[in-house]
Amino acid sequence: MFKSKIAGIGKYLPANVVTNNDLLKYMETSDEWIQERTGIQERRYAHRTNETTTTMGVEAAKVAIERAGTTPQDIDFIIFATLSPDYYFPGCGVLLQRAMKMKEIGALDIRNQCSGFVYAMSVADQFIKTGMYKNILVVGAEKHSFGLDFSTRGRNVSVIFGDGAGAVVLQPTEKENQGILSTHLHSDGNSAEILAMYNPGTHANHWSEQKLASFDEAEIGQMFFSHAMIDDGQVFPNMDGPAVFKVAVEKFPAVIKEALEANQRTTADINLLIPHQANLRISQFVQKKLQLRDDQVYNNIMRYGNTTAASVPIALCEAWENGKVKDGDLVCLAAFGSGFTWGSVLLNW
Ligand code: UT7
Repeated sequence: MFKSKIAGIGKYLPANVVTNNDLLKYMETSDEWIQERTGIQERRYAHRTNETTTTMGVEAAKVAIERAGTTPQDIDFIIFATLSPDYYFPGCGVLLQRAMKMKEIGALDIRNQCSGFVYAMSVADQFIKTGMYKNILVVGAEKHSFGLDFSTRGRNVSVIFGDGAGAVVLQPTEKENQGILSTHLHSDGNSAEILAMYNPGTHANHWSEQKLASFDEAEIGQMFFSHAMIDDGQVFPNMDGPAVFKVAVEKFPAVIKEALEANQRTTADINLLIPHQANLRISQFVQKKLQLRDDQVYNNIMRYGNTTAASVPIALCEAWENGKVKDGDLVCLAAFGSGFTWGSVLLNW
């Protein structure tokens, strides 16, 4: 059986830099609060009309494909992870396939939020290992800036998120000291609502029983959207930050240890840990718990904020471009987020 190697990696960050102080125009917050609680100094926002989640994914994909020594026509499967797709449906995978003039290959969208890229890597790995595909494009991209509540009401969420994209091309390898060693995926839906965007959805929670009963069949379409839903701000992401934080600092170390133990490795063997960039305090907590040195953990949330499905490939790409990842290095990717879902990927570069 083959292993999967990252043959090429790319990233794309929009040019528009938004500092913490820029956010003061819209909400009551402060540079001090944001830096102290999250580590974030600035983030990027996509161009309002010219850039979408798909177009940013395309830019990252172009770089990854070129670095892999391939062309868009060589790609035989697309996996696109995002929570901020261009359309409710169809997904970004087919939009990228069209934009890059690829063949009529399969395109799969993954909606696993912060762990989306790790899940996508795991799926891609299975297809490569079995020999089904030889050039899989895995993309994580987000345009959060279009769907956040920039009033003081939404400040606990909106200050955290940023836009961007990362992509890798996975190919088979038979080299001993190269490729994905294992992937580990988890979920626990018991707290699904504490980090969620409820609408648009088919749950109908925003209507009272009485109101629902009063709808005739012709009015049933209204269940999906309502003016009240928009007026109440129920169209924005909702998060109980401290509750998420508590679980994140428990699950991150656990899923990293699980990957190490599955491969008879220890934390001392890790050359670089790329944690999902949710909050610098979470990364620091994980580093301390696993007793990792500073040079074993890569963080860039200071510059880009939390880019959800894009954060792991952006950080991995940046680390590689800065010479922090070399051939044969043991690299661990780990993510935790909404769902809750979490996971890890252990690989030799
Ligand atoms: O990537 C997806 C997974 N997400 C996560 O992992 C997020 C995990 N959670 C977190 O990162 C943190 O909980 C936050 C950064 C979201 C919030 O930090 P916190 O230290 O947990 O703050 P808090 O929510 O407990 O709020 C503390 C205070 C509150 O005021 P009072 O009630 O103490 O008066 C908030 O209203 O800070 C207030 N606050 C803000 N103040 C200024 C919340 N957001 C802001 C803000 N600026 N942006």
